[in-house]
Amino acid sequence: MPNGELVVLLPGDGIGPEVAEQARLALELLVPEVEIEERLIGAAAIRATGTPFPPETREACLRATAVLKGPVGDPEFDAADVRPEQGLLALREALDAYANLRPSIRGDVDLLIVRELVGGLYFGARGVREDGTVFDTCEYHPRQIERVSRRAFALARERRCHLTSVDKANVLDTSRLWRRIVDELAPEYPDVTVEHMLVDNAAMQLATTPEQFDVLVTENTFGDILSDLAAAVTGGLGLAPSASLTDSGPGIFEPVHGSAPDIAGRGVANPTAMLRSTALLLEHGLGRSEEAAALSHAIDAAIASTPTADLGGTATTTEVGAAIREQLAVDAVTAST
Ligand code: NAD
Ligand code: IPM
Ligand code: MN
Repeated sequence: MPNGELVVLLPGDGIGPEVAEQARLALELLVPEVEIEERLIGAAAIRATGTPFPPETREACLRATAVLKGPVGDPEFDAADVRPEQGLLALREALDAYANLRPSIRGDVDLLIVRELVGGLYFGARGVREDGTVFDTCEYHPRQIERVSRRAFALARERRCHLTSVDKANVLDTSRLWRRIVDELAPEYPDVTVEHMLVDNAAMQLATTPEQFDVLVTENTFGDILSDLAAAVTGGLGLAPSASLTDSGPGIFEPVHGSAPDIAGRGVANPTAMLRSTALLLEHGLGRSEEAAALSHAIDAAIASTPTADLGGTATTTEVGAAIREQLAVDAVTAST
């Protein structure tokens, strides 16, 4: 019986539909009462409608409880004026999903990148000057920095109480503003220790001693790059999920990775990042902590026993999905006896 909650599923492009299918099956098993509505975004939407974020998709996402999204992007549109990625940026902007949480966990590394998602270079003024110079502008309003920083402080408080704010304050005015705002907020969170780190050094530290980090907070572009690096040092892009949260309204849950055109259509993509994003959706989007924990546990067990090629194994996407669902069934039986 539907319970009024709605997950809008956007499979996306490339390996997106392959990993999204496994996420759908897991959701149907764990929360059968939640309605799932599928919509187009990205290259698939351009092909069907001429635009990467059609009005029907926008309308569905705005009335959703949460949005579960596969990656977008297709080499066919690399040189086109209308690009699949524009659909993703429009979605993030439409929902004002400003706080992008990108966790990386492995061994003694347990870090969380909080990436500002609706500002900076991605959304600043851009254009072409008369002399042919092309420009993109990094812009931040103090309020945009304050709200994402407050999220990061609050998250640090629930973890190991250490916040690293990453910027390029030795060069950029937006970074100097960023640093000032973080410093102004710090006294409100006296239990959280704050450090500032320049982004080039942060990249080096992430590659060499990632275990030093708890929560990192940074602007949009730096967060994009650093989160792929954090994924790489904790098992790879196939494992890295994200949650993009708003102040009110639906969040967006999607893997950090892209549409992986090099392996698309072969059924070998690792669905873990998408399924971990589904666990984040259960936790943050639907408030189902128990189901989220059950799914996370099943994923960990399945990737240990049934690894895909990126993890050195031979399992297919559907085999991993099936192993996760089997593990969920085993855990459910164990819990009830
Ligand atoms: P990518 O993340 O798609 O792929 C990088 C490498 O990681 C590739 O070798 C790929 O095979 C591998 N990989 C990624 N996900 C994997 C998975 N689940 N299992 C196994 N291997 C995996 O990055 P790219 O090649 O630079 O980008 C491809 C397209 O994806 C571009 O169009 C880009 O704009 C888009 N993209 C979209 C998103 C998104 O929708 N959130 C994120 C990143 C990139
Ligand atoms: C990501 C992606 C996107 C981004 C692209 C596809 C617009 O790389 O989600 O990390 O840069 O935010
Ligand atoms: Mn990225």
